[in-house]
Amino acid sequence: MSQASNPSGTSWHFEGWDPANLDTPSVQNLLQGAVGPRPVALASTINPRGEVNLSPFSFFNVFSANPPVLIFSPALRVRDGSSKHTLRNVMEIPEVVIQVVPFALVEQVSLASSEYAEGVNEFQKAGLTAWPSLKVTPPRVAESPVHMECKVLEVKPLGTGGGAGNLVICEVVYFHVAREVLLPTGSIDPYAVDAVARLGGDWYTRSSMGLFEVEKPLRTCGIGVDALPTWLQEIGTLDGNRLARLGNQPTIPTMERCRAIFLEQFPARAFEPTSQEGRVALALRIGLLLDQGRTEQALALAMMGKEEGGQEEG
Ligand SMILES: Cc1cc2nc3c(=O)[nH]c(=O)nc-3n(C[C@H](O)[C@H](O)[C@H](O)COP(=O)(O)O)c2cc1C
Repeated sequence: MSQASNPSGTSWHFEGWDPANLDTPSVQNLLQGAVGPRPVALASTINPRGEVNLSPFSFFNVFSANPPVLIFSPALRVRDGSSKHTLRNVMEIPEVVIQVVPFALVEQVSLASSEYAEGVNEFQKAGLTAWPSLKVTPPRVAESPVHMECKVLEVKPLGTGGGAGNLVICEVVYFHVAREVLLPTGSIDPYAVDAVARLGGDWYTRSSMGLFEVEKPLRTCGIGVDALPTWLQEIGTLDGNRLARLGNQPTIPTMERCRAIFLEQFPARAFEPTSQEGRVALALRIGLLLDQGRTEQALALAMMGKEEGGQEEG
């Protein structure tokens, strides 16, 4: 067991495992808990007899925009190492339609993941409507608001035993996006699409819940957490997120500006900013200013808490 602290002072007490000493279900359990939420691909495929298959896959993501490439991974069954129908289908007819799964469809999609016998149409079992695709043979799911028609570029097996993944590398050849989930900017609205994602066990989450925005870091690179005065980290009132917000400022304000902001914030100037009492007052105000989005002012107060009026190294 080892221990480490992150910038907000949280201590973790680690356990460790070598996957070579674990059975496949235990490894899968760790991976699914560790890597989540994972988006869910609802993949429709077809076999040479024209029988359609529909199954969800959360070992899935986007890997390239030029060309547009998605990868999902139907694993060999842990039970007996056999191939899933989706895998067999894409080996024979290298086409797939990948649809996004909104919350409104999650239980139908879960039902479609049942191990129905080969040839059983999961569109029908799950009560979903098949619409013809434009450029590929498998149909798409009318109830989903986003369909991506794909040609399979390659299937890359990652092993031969039960639980081994098979990367199905797909190039998107056509996008269908419902107008109702499109923003005027052309982006997909995460509230409207309300896509589900999978975690460990039976847990799911959805994209309309608990959304928050984090501004992209500056192109020019922020000053960094390591440029903040040490007193601010030592006093421990700001978590790592807030320290990083300060570290994303482009420059440290001049001392003149720092003093002006200090006087504006504390007109009575009833304390010495570098005293313990002063730093506590500064830290509280810095938190408040950060909550109000006034990051430059917060950084100026942080600099005022440094010895010698902010001139020393942090
Ligand atoms: C939300 C969800 C995500 C899933 N993700 C995967 C996955 O990434 N890989 C996999 O092999 N099976 C996954 N499964 C299980 C398959 O959907 C299931 O084995 C299905 O029966 C495969 O169908 P098929 O044999 O018709 O291809 C998932 C099931 C659910 C409900």
